[in-house]
Amino acid sequence: MSELNKIALRILSNGRGILAADESTGTMTKRLEAINVPSSSENRLLFRETLFSSEGMKNCIGGVILYDETIKQISNSNKTIPHLISSSDTIPGIKVDTGAKVLAGSPEEKITEGLDGLRERLKEYYKLGARFTKWRGVYNISNKYPSKLSVHSNAHALARYSALVQECGMVPIVEPEVLMDGNHSAEDCFNKTSEVIKKCFEELILNNTDLTGMILKPNMILPGNKSAQKISNEEVAKLTLKCLKENVPTDVPGIAFLSGGQTEIQATENLDLINKHNDTNFIMTYSYGRALQQSALKFWSKDIKDISGTQKVFNHRANMCTLAAQGKWSAELETK
Ligand code: G3H
Repeated sequence: MSELNKIALRILSNGRGILAADESTGTMTKRLEAINVPSSSENRLLFRETLFSSEGMKNCIGGVILYDETIKQISNSNKTIPHLISSSDTIPGIKVDTGAKVLAGSPEEKITEGLDGLRERLKEYYKLGARFTKWRGVYNISNKYPSKLSVHSNAHALARYSALVQECGMVPIVEPEVLMDGNHSAEDCFNKTSEVIKKCFEELILNNTDLTGMILKPNMILPGNKSAQKISNEEVAKLTLKCLKENVPTDVPGIAFLSGGQTEIQATENLDLINKHNDTNFIMTYSYGRALQQSALKFWSKDIKDISGTQKVFNHRANMCTLAAQGKWSAELETK
């Protein structure tokens, strides 16, 4: 078993999942302004530190994805943030892409940037304590999109990023997100997501990525958020499993889904059903941002000094997601 495989398994095993707390300062500012909390670096740290020092972290969270600002901050208990996270036996990770920019040649689509100087940045993050990383490619669905250019360019960038990350002794999270925005059907999402994931693995293999030392972070298969089509959660789980079985090489140890705009309950229920039907060897867990933090953020906004109350809300969500990652969740448990 390689060192990278061991790290991946430590993050994902026993129902543990990933807390995606890697919102850029711009995104975090939008989230805080929406709840009338000033977006100062102190407030961004206070909310994140509240989650990082909770019981939910110890019991449920195997890895936290941080943003550049946070990995360099010092907690109110005078620990570095990676140290605070490691003290819960959780592994610190870092988002290393520099965002999705207009794709030259197909300006309605995006290409994720950040490869220039990446090797040097990775070495710095390793020294700060990071042992895994994240890079997100985004794809939108319409009749003509994603184009071959977008599918190819983003897969190429994800694979070059992964090779560099493994060279630096860290586990890459490969996140090709086919967005939920639009009026497309679940079948369209299935077909486009399959094409995107297939291409990513072609490029990952070409770049000699150790597939046992990576984590895939895909979207679930859903109809677009403006689609008239409604499908059952059972159907979401079955289509998602079919897509992954057909396109992910069996060497990959685990899959950690993004929530992508689903509500907390939808993201939990769909993950639970995926696990209830999981007939693969892949670990299927969560790497949620909004679906882990939304309720906690709302509660916190009423009194940003109420640390234990906020932690209680977060602990519940993390517990529910961890049950779902083992196929042991039920709606009744939400209200217990
Ligand atoms: O890149 C996206 C985040 O890591 C996951 O966020 O669960 O809110 O989609 P989300």
